[in-house]
Amino acid sequence: MADFEPLATERLDAPAAGYFFGGACDEVTLAENTAAWSRRRLRPRVLAGYKDWGTRATVLGGEVSAPILVAPVAYQRLVDEAGEIAMARAAAAADTVMCVSTLATTLPGEIAAAVPGGRRWFQLYSFRDEGVTRALMDEAIGAGFEAIVVTVDAPRGGRRERDLRTGFKLPEGLGVPAVQAALKSERAVTIEETFALMEPALTWGDLERLAAACGVPVLIKGVLTGEDAALAVEHGAAGVVVSNHGGRQLDCSLATVDALEEVVDAVAGRGSVFVDGGIRRGTDVAIALALGADAVLVGRPAIWGLAVAGEAGVRRVLELLREEFELALALLGCSSPAELGRAHVQRAS
Ligand SMILES: Cc1cc2nc3c(=O)[nH]c(=O)nc-3n(C[C@H](O)[C@H](O)[C@H](O)COP(=O)(O)O)c2cc1C
Repeated sequence: MADFEPLATERLDAPAAGYFFGGACDEVTLAENTAAWSRRRLRPRVLAGYKDWGTRATVLGGEVSAPILVAPVAYQRLVDEAGEIAMARAAAAADTVMCVSTLATTLPGEIAAAVPGGRRWFQLYSFRDEGVTRALMDEAIGAGFEAIVVTVDAPRGGRRERDLRTGFKLPEGLGVPAVQAALKSERAVTIEETFALMEPALTWGDLERLAAACGVPVLIKGVLTGEDAALAVEHGAAGVVVSNHGGRQLDCSLATVDALEEVVDAVAGRGSVFVDGGIRRGTDVAIALALGADAVLVGRPAIWGLAVAGEAGVRRVLELLREEFELALALLGCSSPAELGRAHVQRAS
């Protein structure tokens, strides 16, 4: 799958490649996210007696072909002209969940109309203008999105130095419906300006009110400690996404795999635990599930696929990951994801 990255970089202009593939500051966390998965070692069991292996799993009460979901990534029509709709088609074809960003270049209702039948969640940034937030959420829930994923690691935008150097701006006229509604304008905006439209001062009380009011499960994305994971489920969240925003927010924050075990322990079965950041191999997926995650999400790999070959590229990326995960299960002596446990993984010495 890594072969997609240089091809994708070639196909985007330098500012867009910097935006999609870069991270915050010195990109310590961006690099650490992938490196940390390779500091775990798998403990295979032999002679398990299986000749069939399956990757199907259940997330938030519904089945997926594999516990590999598509993470919310903004501005997908900058990558491919069909943008989120191509991504949604690929996720539906792969029989998995797509999480659609608040900063999508296509409205949730348009995605649902173009790709009926796919499973989708809606990632929410709370705008200072509550009307904008409410309208987006209502539209997504009305269009059949099954969950709201509230991203909480971005009270301010991270310091993305690649963007500062290239002067990356959203092109004028690129429809980002949420941003246009909040600004009441279609002028070109920087990422910093976009984040400044969001409400920075959310509290656990706000989260609790949202979870009680919205009628679908609410996940909290951007949790990196057991303390916050416990607070999330105690305030009505159906689960958490262990995430550092792909190393784009607080640089030097810990790699997600290093936070996963304490989060799983703190949630203690009271909700679902998802993880994203640096997942590039089927063995990474196996490590995540062995440590107690219900599923993983992939961000940049899906964007590589989209940049290289649109819907077909994303399908290929998702299939490669699923196939590798199936092979990892077989070689670990497991016939299904549910058989993975902590005994299958240890730290590298
Ligand atoms: C270009 C880009 C844009 C992103 N936009 C959003 C977003 O709008 N909302 C959000 O919650 N996370 C966003 N993320 C973070 C992803 O959802 C996810 O946490 C991260 O990409 C996972 O790491 P990975 O790219 O190594 O798989 C974005 C990530 C990237 C790379």
